[in-house]
Amino acid sequence: MKKVSNFIGVAAGTASVGTMPAVRDRKMSKVAVVYWSGTGNTQACAEAVVDGAKAAGAEVECFSVSEFDVSSTGNYDSVALGCPAMGDEVLEESEFQPAYDEMKPLLQGKKVALFGSYGWGVGDWMNSWKDDAIAAGLTLCTDPVICNEAPDDESVENLKKLGVALA
Ligand SMILES: Cc1cc2nc3c(=O)[nH]c(=O)nc-3n(C[C@H](O)[C@H](O)[C@H](O)COP(=O)(O)O)c2cc1C
Repeated sequence: MKKVSNFIGVAAGTASVGTMPAVRDRKMSKVAVVYWSGTGNTQACAEAVVDGAKAAGAEVECFSVSEFDVSSTGNYDSVALGCPAMGDEVLEESEFQPAYDEMKPLLQGKKVALFGSYGWGVGDWMNSWKDDAIAAGLTLCTDPVICNEAPDDESVENLKKLGVALA
């Protein structure tokens, strides 16, 4: 009699087919990076955030706050906001603060991250900003990143990680 051996009665591979589309169809997240910068340090921070988010697969758009249309906030899944310490440990008051205040209701339920540069202080402006964002009901997806003047290599790495967290 002919021996039929080692037959396994399961069609190999069929069990995992149902899970594949979820991976294949994963939507690219849309990230906006919106910043104010007087002398370029926070702009350099913004560029590192963009690099991190892009490396993590997000579709990223970067705007100085004066060119950002606040009413488009709803088009993004995540928003990074960047502003240096100005005045006496406050946000820049003529352009950034008003835009941020207007964005608050539109940022509800989105992933938000804060970053910025400072000079002689210790980061009090960012502590106040973080408290304000939380009180406004915003969802911070990672700790804020601050850097002294222009971002050094370590700050660039931290800013890229912030970008990854938004993606
Ligand atoms: C008008 C003005 C106010 C500032 N106030 C503060 C401050 O309160 N605390 C601080 O640490 N740095 C302060 N700075 C320093 C800036 O935050 C710092 O130079 C920062 O790197 C500027 O970022 P930017 O190049 O993106 O404009 C101030 C700078 C200016 C011009």
